Order: sequence, then C-alpha cells, then structure tokens
Amino acid sequence: MALIDMKNITKDYHLGETVVHALRGVDLQIDKKEFVAIWGPSGSGKTTLLNLIGAIDEPTTGELAIAGKDVRTLSDNQKSAHRNEQIGFVFQGFNLVPVLSALENVMLPLQIKGASTAEARKQALGRLEEVGLSDLIHNRPAKMSGGQQQRVSIARALVNDPSLVIADEPTANLDSETAHMIIDLMRELNQKDHTTFIFSTHDQRLLDRVKRLVRLEDGKIVNGGQKQ
Ligand SMILES: Nc1ncnc2c1ncn2[C@@H]1O[C@H](COP(=O)(O)OP(=O)(O)OP(=O)(O)O)[C@@H](O)[C@H]1O
Ligand SMILES: [Mg+2]
Repeated sequence: MALIDMKNITKDYHLGETVVHALRGVDLQIDKKEFVAIWGPSGSGKTTLLNLIGAIDEPTTGELAIAGKDVRTLSDNQKSAHRNEQIGFVFQGFNLVPVLSALENVMLPLQIKGASTAEARKQALGRLEEVGLSDLIHNRPAKMSGGQQQRVSIARALVNDPSLVIADEPTANLDSETAHMIIDLMRELNQKDHTTFIFSTHDQRLLDRVKRLVRLEDGKIVNGGQKQ
C-alpha cells in the first residue's frame, strides 16, 4: 500500500471572480521510506501539493488516500492527530513563534504531546546541534538570519521523530554548504530511521542527491509521478 495515493487530483483557489487552477489532474504514488523531491518553477503548485499530502488542505476533486485511508472519511480531529503524530512540517515561511527562542520553538511540539520540560529540552538540543545551531539556541527568530530560522524550523520538524517529513523549500535560504549539510542530514535520517521525506525545491544544487524527482509544471506532473 502506498503511503500517499493521489488519483486525478485537482485544486482550485477562488479569488473573487477568478479561479486559479493550481493542480490540474495529478496522479502520484509515494511509498513509505521514499526520498522524493517535488521540483518545479514558482507557481507550479508545489506548496499546494504538499499541503494536500499533509492533510492541511483538501483537494477540489479526485481521490487522495493517506496510508490507505481516504482523507474525505477522516474527521478534523483524526486529521490533526495524523499530522501531530506522524508528520513533521517545514513551512516555506518557517512559521516560527516569534516570542519564543530557537530552543523553545523546537521544544514546543514535544511539550504539546505532553513530554516533560527536561525531556523536551534534551531532544530539542540534540536536533539543534544536528542542524548546526547550538550557539544560537536562546535567540528569538527576529535575531536570526533567514537561513538560521530555516534550520530551526527543520529541527522543529524532526524533533517528534516523525515517520513523514514534508518540507517546503527546506534549503531556499541557505548557502551551498549549509544546504548540502541539511540535505545530507535528511538523507541520513531517511536511510537510518527510514523516515519518508517529501520536499519541494527549485534548487538545482540538490537534485543530484535525490532518489526520485517529481517534475511539476503548471499544476501537472510531467515526470516522475510513477515509481520507477
Ligand atoms: N491561497 C491561495 N489563493 C489563491 N491562489 C493561490 C493560493 N495559493 C496558491 N495560489 C496559486 O496557485 C498556484 C500554485 O501556487 P503554489 O503556491 O502551490 O506554487 P509553488 O510551486 O509552491 O510556488 P513557489 O515556488 O513560488 O512557492 C499559483 O498560481 C498561486 O498563485
Ligand atoms: Mg511554494
């Protein structure tokens, strides 16, 4: 059974009188343990697609099953439980909490799950070290560069040991060296812990390190929709 199974998915956005056809008939299957890049130009529908995969948003038409369950049959509570327990998100705009330090931002998902402060702190410190941010743990987001905030958001996505990480342009604000460090970390977790990674990018530097490339253009998959 595929982890993600999309059949003929469309997604429209309504902007006043106009309709934007963000996805126009997407078929995509992704298995557990895959390492997949969604690759395409700005506006091609990458974020839209990732939001559907993460059950943050719903398709306009078509069938979407996550781990064999039709998303239309899931209640809002079931969807949130699925997101909180299984998925780590790296958002394109980071979505860090501005009044919290880097450390507190990364501790938050664990504390929401009921972990003790000591345990949350230990895990969060470990993840922040992995992304090379041990020196900045007490800084708030406003006191960090875009690339540093991006790394905090990656540490936050990983701290729950999710089985699926959905990352929207995880290396967009990073210099080459840091981008490669992040992608190597993602690959290591993919191989060691069998974490599934689905991420969007238009970063050419990363493409040679990716096992499967799904090419999106104008709301359609033009390459890589079927597993090789
Ligand atoms: N909330 C929204 N309301 C209206 N239109 C939207 C909305 N979100 C996205 N769109 C439109 O849908 C299309 C696909 O957008 P999407 O954000 O998925 O592209 P993307 O590939 O992630 O682009 P980028 O690389 O710039 O992040 C674009 O035409 C965009 O303007
Ligand atoms: Mg996007």
